[in-house]
Amino acid sequence: MTQDEVMSETAERIDWTSRLARRTEGQNSVIGGILALANASGVINFTGGFPDPEVFPTDSLAPIVDRLLTGDVQVALQYAPSEGIASTRDTFGELLRQREGRRPGPGELMVTSGGIDAITLLAKSLLDPADEVVVEEPSYLGAVSGFAAFGSTVRGVPMDVDGLDVDAFAAMLATGPRPKLLYTIPEHQNPSGRTQSLERREALVRLCRRHGVLIVEDVAYRELSFDGSRLPSLWAIDPEITVQIGTFSKTIFPGVRLGWAAGPAEVIAQMAVAKQNSDQCAGALGQRMVEEFIRDGLFDAQLVRERALYRRRGEATVRSLRAHMPAGVTWTEPTGGFFTWLHVPGVDTTELALRARDRDVAFVPGASFFAERVEHEYLRLSFSRISEPDIDEGLRRLALAIRA
Ligand SMILES: Cc1ncc(COP(=O)(O)O)c(C=O)c1O
Repeated sequence: MTQDEVMSETAERIDWTSRLARRTEGQNSVIGGILALANASGVINFTGGFPDPEVFPTDSLAPIVDRLLTGDVQVALQYAPSEGIASTRDTFGELLRQREGRRPGPGELMVTSGGIDAITLLAKSLLDPADEVVVEEPSYLGAVSGFAAFGSTVRGVPMDVDGLDVDAFAAMLATGPRPKLLYTIPEHQNPSGRTQSLERREALVRLCRRHGVLIVEDVAYRELSFDGSRLPSLWAIDPEITVQIGTFSKTIFPGVRLGWAAGPAEVIAQMAVAKQNSDQCAGALGQRMVEEFIRDGLFDAQLVRERALYRRRGEATVRSLRAHMPAGVTWTEPTGGFFTWLHVPGVDTTELALRARDRDVAFVPGASFFAERVEHEYLRLSFSRISEPDIDEGLRRLALAIRA
């Protein structure tokens, strides 16, 4: 029977939309549409949180891959354990010891296929549909939708210049149900660019310990402060109540899809089980590449180059915002990472995105970064992938669109 004959026997084409899982209701790709437009040629594109390929370490990776393909085929091209290759975990554990002053104990560290994988594994391991999760408002879209995809209610807690508002979170805990977890991005937050102060970190850890709330700290941009400094991580302050998730997507390259999760052994063990029916293990070749890259002592030099590049771009962004933006528009001044966050009073930034698109400039409207609050006057600019002259030209055009 040919396909045509089979099709002629069925009355109508089946619309599979009606068969999609109930939990997919309301999940749409508004952002996907905006990002697709942004990628058109000629557009100055402040959208994705992408590292600049200019700093991909291609020269140093080539000999490493060569070495692995000749001397390490048995491991690098094979399936790996779900918790990660032992030598890779050992290397990541040592990196954490150097950075955070603490090495994960037995069973407290696993390798993940990047940051979003760690978020999904946590959600699969911890969340039932009736559970609540708390995130900063605004927060990383991938995490908010990752938690919501498991049917849990995602609640928002406000932020200010010092990061998550711990008093507001305390008030929420005093009156509402205990959330299963709090998700926070303490450094150079996506999308706001803000960094949590030390006082806030200590207060947050005390509060979560008192109420038995698991903290999930996402340190995606931690290594990318412009001056190389960093405050103690939440995991370093209290590893018993914190899972730290990290990624090499921003600091080495995202094509490798590699990261880690460090936290209480019983949580990490369940995440490794959850990985067995997602991708089973992070790709072994990527694990061994990143491991060798770190063992060869190349990671620190890589970070020095990246911090210098993103510092130039972050500073250029702030200079151009000051030069071009109309009175009333305000923004965060990042000390690292990829982002600045604008408040444009009286303007719906989803509409503005269309007007800006007519002038060949693109950004991400802020509305979708809010889990609970309805906010239309914010937008995110990512400066990581744009040359300084284009940053200036792009912000000049954006200012014209706002004035119009
Ligand atoms: C805060 C944060 N966490 C995680 C990720 C995703 O990391 P990965 O690409 O490793 O999945 C991103 C990427 O935009 C991010 O901004």
